[in-house]
Amino acid sequence: MRSFALVCAMCCAIAFPAAAAPIVIKFSHVVAPDTPKGKAAEKFRELAQKYTRGAVTVEVYPNSQLFKDREELEALQRGVVQMLAPSTSKFGPLGVREFELFDLPYLFPDRETVDRVTDGEIGRRLHERLESRGVKGLAYWDNGFKQFSANRPLRTLRDFRGLRMRIQSSKVLEAMIRELGAAPQVMAFSEVYTALQQGVVDGTENPVSNLYTQKMHEVQKHLTISDHGYLVYAVVTNKKFWEELPAKVREQLERAMQEATAYERDIAARENEQALAAVRAAGRTEIYLLPAAERRRWREALLPVHRKFERMVGRDNLEAIYRVAAEVEAGRGRKQ
Ligand code: LMR
Repeated sequence: MRSFALVCAMCCAIAFPAAAAPIVIKFSHVVAPDTPKGKAAEKFRELAQKYTRGAVTVEVYPNSQLFKDREELEALQRGVVQMLAPSTSKFGPLGVREFELFDLPYLFPDRETVDRVTDGEIGRRLHERLESRGVKGLAYWDNGFKQFSANRPLRTLRDFRGLRMRIQSSKVLEAMIRELGAAPQVMAFSEVYTALQQGVVDGTENPVSNLYTQKMHEVQKHLTISDHGYLVYAVVTNKKFWEELPAKVREQLERAMQEATAYERDIAARENEQALAAVRAAGRTEIYLLPAAERRRWREALLPVHRKFERMVGRDNLEAIYRVAAEVEAGRGRKQ
């Protein structure tokens, strides 16, 4: 009797192999869920689970829940998490400072130029530079133009003098703040609200969606719409993890990432417009739109930062971006 039961059990085991445990992707990031990056991470989670039919489970950990800025890249390299989307300002500690080209002030006049750079040869080469560090680039997301905020009005270049300004861990951003006569203070994104509230720093820079979702408008009396920089994210994974995935699963995840990227780019501008309207409605922060003539003065004053870092970011890269910006501008001129 026992041998019959054993044969039956073996037949069942062969006929119905136990469902393999899902592959788990921990996707860690440092911003709030209701931001372009937060929503895109959720979109990737949904699509990845849909296209792999449950073979992959994505766990999203927003707001630095698992790891703060500098820790997250180390955790990815160790394979403790499998996916991140850090700002391109934060790859210096990995030894890939070329990413800081995106930090050059007033380099990108519009979103189209950014997309053509990230989706073209420069973006591909930057991703390639990560591979020797065990990191694989999957996509680029973005969060639009960065604005300055502080507890005093920022209307002319002189207004920055003596301010302590929080920045991301970027040598280019450090030089930009010094060029303005202010003191740069590198700090993890998760610590900025408290530092502003306690007066450890006087101001910072970020897209409005980040300022608003971290409630920085409660501790910043002045916001200047300067569009002085652009916040770009590099979506990355652990290279070993990615290469060891079954080819079919990798294809399904690539499809999910492509669609999540299109979604992120589609919502980013709107999310920042809505955040600006919410800051205005909160009534605690004076919003100043930097006039075009003043923008030109700020751009001129900050050009030395381009010269200072053209070797580090690649002179060819810089010339290529100037050319793309001019082509986009000319194309816009022809349409008008
Ligand atoms: C910052 O640290 O200011 C931003 O990079 C946060 C983010 O990831 O948008």
